[in-house]
Amino acid sequence: MSEVYVMDHPLIQHKITHIRKTDVGTKEFREVVSEIAGLMCYEATRDLKLQDVKIKTPLCEMVGKELTGKKLAVVPILRAGLGMVDGILSLIPAAKVGHIGLYRDPETHEPVEYYCKLPADCSEREVFVVDPMLATGGSCSAAIQMLKEKGVKHIRFLCIIAAPEGVKRMEEDHPDVPLYIGALDERLNEHAYILPGLGDAGDRIFGTK
Ligand code: PRP
Ligand code: URA
Repeated sequence: MSEVYVMDHPLIQHKITHIRKTDVGTKEFREVVSEIAGLMCYEATRDLKLQDVKIKTPLCEMVGKELTGKKLAVVPILRAGLGMVDGILSLIPAAKVGHIGLYRDPETHEPVEYYCKLPADCSEREVFVVDPMLATGGSCSAAIQMLKEKGVKHIRFLCIIAAPEGVKRMEEDHPDVPLYIGALDERLNEHAYILPGLGDAGDRIFGTK
């Protein structure tokens, strides 16, 4: 059974409600998506491992905590996932970034792969796959399959809005991958768009419609 975390932080809920509004333009949409990604990253990194470290403050010595364990990588699913990268890097600046290019065929809604470039040591890292939308789950499932085929074992998925259909698909295809979801919406419409959703995330981030 997948671990599924639906964010309950008031700031995240407030900001997601804001970007759903039709009259929020590209600049503001992009900025707030980045802020939401940062806040979600904060929630999704709660269980990262720490180790003791001896340090000197200006006054005395002490034992503090620092991150240990696997290094991190962020992998956005192009295009819309790019909008979440900076927000995450603002908290984890040392993370490496890979890219997976997938688009949804407008007729079949099946993902079509067009790009994959990952850090050379990706299989050694804890990988955060990011995409604002989990609709049918086809794109996310395919991206995670691509990572697994390259030997990546530790994967988390962060999305801003998910449909129950996408969550179900992920639970079936990749039950080992924890899902961090900003808001869990009602359902998909006949074009496999999320309702109530926020429309086409890629078009809203890049101003292409
Ligand atoms: C959107 C979104 C996801 C995918 C979700 O991308 O960013 O990648 O659709 O749908 P699914 O769960 O049914 O696969 P899109 O294909 O529109 O490409 P884009 O990011 O380039 O706009
Ligand atoms: N992709 C989007 O950008 N929005 C949806 O609602 C579904 C897929």
